[in-house]
Amino acid sequence: MENPAVRIQNLNVYYGNEQVLFNINLSVPRNSVYAILGPSGCGKSTLLRTINRLIELRPEARVEGKVEIMGIDVYRELPPRTSGTASWDGFPNAKPVASPFDI
Ligand SMILES: Nc1ncnc2c1ncn2[C@@H]1O[C@H](COP(=O)(O)OP(=O)(O)O)[C@@H](O)[C@H]1O
Ligand SMILES: [Mg+2]
Repeated sequence: MENPAVRIQNLNVYYGNEQVLFNINLSVPRNSVYAILGPSGCGKSTLLRTINRLIELRPEARVEGKVEIMGIDVYRELPPRTSGTASWDGFPNAKPVASPFDI
């Protein structure tokens, strides 16, 4: 696909020693709506966190592979995150905890 909005290549993500994403390759076209479906715990939130780099707020997480957004390699061409809070990751929680951002 030429000029996708998001291009993911050979993505592996680990929390500590546990690998939770295995060799993801995915291109999301521009001007489209894309859904990620799957059972609880299959890695949907981890994939989104990896795309937007909020996973960097989790020191136990490790990312291998490439994520491009609008042609920019977000882990190599953008500066490292310098601030942020690990208490809110911007995604719905799998467990029912109080969060004003849950949907
Ligand atoms: N910080 C963490 N440390 C260890 N394992 C984690 C952590 N966060 C998520 N996981 C595990 O990673 C897997 C994927 O979780 P997640 O991305 O939240 O899935 P989903 O959003 O599809 O429910 C699950 O097995 C979950 O238990
Ligand atoms: Mg989730």
